[in-house]
Amino acid sequence: IIPNHTYRPSFHFLPSKNWMNDPNGPMRYKGMYHLFYQHNPKAAVWNTAIEWGHSISKDLVNWFPLQPALTPNQPYDIKGCWSGSITILPNQKPFILYTGIDHNNHQTQNLAIPKNLSDPLLREWVKLPNNPLMKPTLGNKINVTSFRDPTTAWLGHDGFWRVIVGSQENEKGIAILYKSKDFLHWIKAKHPLNSAKKSGMWECPDFYPVSTKGKIGIETSVDGPQVRHVLKVSLYDTSHDYYLIGTYDTTKDVFVPDEKGFDKDELYLVQRYDYGKFYASKTFYDGAKKRRVLWGWINESSVQQDDEKKAWSGIQAIPRTVWLHESGKQLIQWPIAEIEKLRGHHVKLHSKVLKPGTLLQVSGVTPAQADVEISFQVSKLENAQELNPSWKLDPQILCSQKAKGGFGLLVLASKGMQEYTSVFFMIFKTNKKYVVVMCSDQSRSSLNHKNDLTTYGAFVNVDPAHEELSLRILIDQSVVESFGGKGKACITSRVYPTLAINDKAHLHAFNNGTLHVKITRLSAWSMKKAKVN
Ligand code: FRU
Repeated sequence: IIPNHTYRPSFHFLPSKNWMNDPNGPMRYKGMYHLFYQHNPKAAVWNTAIEWGHSISKDLVNWFPLQPALTPNQPYDIKGCWSGSITILPNQKPFILYTGIDHNNHQTQNLAIPKNLSDPLLREWVKLPNNPLMKPTLGNKINVTSFRDPTTAWLGHDGFWRVIVGSQENEKGIAILYKSKDFLHWIKAKHPLNSAKKSGMWECPDFYPVSTKGKIGIETSVDGPQVRHVLKVSLYDTSHDYYLIGTYDTTKDVFVPDEKGFDKDELYLVQRYDYGKFYASKTFYDGAKKRRVLWGWINESSVQQDDEKKAWSGIQAIPRTVWLHESGKQLIQWPIAEIEKLRGHHVKLHSKVLKPGTLLQVSGVTPAQADVEISFQVSKLENAQELNPSWKLDPQILCSQKAKGGFGLLVLASKGMQEYTSVFFMIFKTNKKYVVVMCSDQSRSSLNHKNDLTTYGAFVNVDPAHEELSLRILIDQSVVESFGGKGKACITSRVYPTLAINDKAHLHAFNNGTLHVKITRLSAWSMKKAKVN
């Protein structure tokens, strides 16, 4: 029998108990990080009458819980305080805009402000008497049950605040745009910021500027010549977060993506933050460190009964710094540097050839709670398997059906290999170039087959003929967060081994394919426990 706390992560954010979903209103305020989150304080399952949990941190790693910031208690939010965002107004005033579910089950947008700005922890929040500020009416044709998750607002040159709210009209997904001079009176713009005919409900939109010059983050209202914009939506129909890079046309107040939009037929071409579990994410600008930080919710892969037994469900991914790659074509994500403070005992290795068929155990670190970085150099690439032109170019399908060999790491492996999760690269050749796929295969992760054991995959835009292939994995009991190609591709998975737990787990590097693979560098650290709520 496995003790109930076995799967509880040690350095990921989660409440002390019960259900959590979306991250809400993340911000840095007067030297303190705040995270609010969708919390059901009564059970380890979701319920409509959800509230805003609230925790604070000095370092984004250790967290201290406060009283809930918003609970359903007004006619306009009596059936639930759903997701929303914070905007910090001039003179350091943080405003929460959130979705309330009213007594008719209609969705409304509401404002809450700190009760006492001189409380550095911002423990108490008051809802404004003007609420609801935005609501579906007969005149505006907004779908009453598809109108939610306001973004952080941005200020235009004309002195108007703007905010988008996720919505749908039949099959069409929409980012409805609202404008306001005073943050209290909001007017729906004639055109949405963006929409897509066939995409279903857009939950938790996020819209922000990124710099074309390096890793530096930009405050949400800033625009200019070295700025591009990112629109992210969480598609209810697929449960994934997709993003587009493009131009914010401020005269028309629309977002013009560089590539195809979020339409269902073209969705496989649209990039995702993460090709595993990662949903309802939200960024914020951290002015102290001049970076943009991304939070995302990782749900469980276990069945509800098991969640109720362990009495918690849902974690947040390690916050990631996000910036535009120098190509301008994709985002790069990397775990915030602060997480490295938890690195303890360190083992390393240099220049080790992994012949085909090799399994190399990495000992000396706590394998169920570790941070691992590995780089590979691949030669004899002409031996790579051909990419059959008839295959569908979906990396998840390539990983689950065409995975012949590969090289990477086996994590949370039991001694007799009855259980393991393998995170690896496969290289395919086409007539002109090589295609690198990163896979996270959970199919053998647990002898408990009630868990979701889906295999995930992502393309990694690196050229193995000229570049090393790098992989970083954060392993934390039941979560495996993998970053390939220095943050070009991310895959998060949840696994619940029955044998490979705590010190019974093992970590290996492997080469299961036909290619000549050399580990140029491997570093693994035991990770200390963070103080989380
Ligand atoms: C996304 C979501 C949001 C909603 C919230 C309710 O996971 O469905 O659209 O506001 O969760 O908890």
